[in-house]
Amino acid sequence: MGIELFPFSEEHRMIRDAAREFAQKEIAPIAAEHDESGKFPYETIRKMGEMGFMGIEVPEEYGGAGLDTLSYVLALEEICKVDAAHGTIMSVNNSLFCYGLLKFGTEEQKQTYLRAVASGKAIGAYALTEPMSGSDAGNMRTRATREGDFYVLNGRKSWITSGPVADYFVVFAMTDPTKKHKGITAFIVDGKTPGLIRGKKEPKLGIRASDTSEILFENCRVPVANRLGEEGEGFKIAMTILDAGRIGIAAQALGIAEAAYEASVKYAREREAFGQPIGAFQGIGFKIADMKTRIEAARLLTYNAALAKERAKISGERFTLEASMAKLFASETAMFCAHAAVQIHGGMGYSKELPIERYFRDAKITEIYEGTSEIQRLVIARHELGLK
Ligand code: CAA
Repeated sequence: MGIELFPFSEEHRMIRDAAREFAQKEIAPIAAEHDESGKFPYETIRKMGEMGFMGIEVPEEYGGAGLDTLSYVLALEEICKVDAAHGTIMSVNNSLFCYGLLKFGTEEQKQTYLRAVASGKAIGAYALTEPMSGSDAGNMRTRATREGDFYVLNGRKSWITSGPVADYFVVFAMTDPTKKHKGITAFIVDGKTPGLIRGKKEPKLGIRASDTSEILFENCRVPVANRLGEEGEGFKIAMTILDAGRIGIAAQALGIAEAAYEASVKYAREREAFGQPIGAFQGIGFKIADMKTRIEAARLLTYNAALAKERAKISGERFTLEASMAKLFASETAMFCAHAAVQIHGGMGYSKELPIERYFRDAKITEIYEGTSEIQRLVIARHELGLK
């Protein structure tokens, strides 16, 4: 348990406890098996939809649970503490799909696409990255050309979380390459649209039960009514959505770090060497102390970012800095804790008999996706130096 420095409401405690119970009962028994097979966990994701976990911040009128950002973070943290792969699917659905539609969608788009995804009846995805543009997101090659009441999309998106299974995608494409990032436009694309082709599933180091693939567009005709925002607003929409997404990844990282920490404390108390529990040796005790301290700092940054996003719903201000700091620190904490947990467990940390090695593999992605640690440092430095 973390230190409860935040003023949690009864509602916060309820969703946290519900997510914790669900994760223990439904996800824990299948996590290792799905990690091994890499099979998408359709059944548990469907149940998470029924629990209201797939659209936590979306108002009930659009099919969501109508809760606040802290509720989302608390629920995601609990799910990821048991299995980060389920957390990735939940995070992309909530932040990268639902948040964008809620903020920028028309009433019709909300009723059609947001309602389906927020209620968990459909799965949402976000297609920004391309083979030649990851961190430099504005430098994309996918084109959208207007033809009457349609845009025709051509190009290739890569590393798309839930790509093989998603029903709907938020896709970013260039409508006017001469304007660089100001020529990017966002679209909602139905996964069944002819010309949307799903590439092969990527074999991955971690979060293996979360499906990732390329998405190809070959003369894919998208109705003008499916444009998200105005022409040329796509880059800002992409960045605004990522600010929300990064809070989700911070929560995910926090969950992984906590799981690694709790297992380590238990093992350090039980395992004996040289006639005493290994935790009594400073080499282990100091690791435990550093893990705990970093986790509590990551928790404060993550909950703080959630509160900043909540305030932004009224003020309209950006929460870019808070989100980047939380994502940076929490993801590096996850990696630190997972690394220490493997070391504390010794050979057992390296064995597939325990989930420790899975935490280690799952933690790494949090330093990479939705903006690498280097990109988060760049965002924070630019903000502090007033360079952008
Ligand atoms: N919110 C709103 N607007 C923003 C913004 C934000 N957070 N960040 C930048 N902008 C605006 C700027 O104000 C600027 O506006 P003007 O043109 O009107 O001045 C415009 O966007 C361009 O900004 P920059 O000049 O700062 O853009 P840049 O090209 O230097 O890039 C960057 C900035 C921070 C490096 C950005 O490209 C970035 O975040 N890159 C990382 C991308 C990323 O996270 N990719 C992960 C993809 S999702 C994923 O991982 C897959 C998955 O399925 C999980």
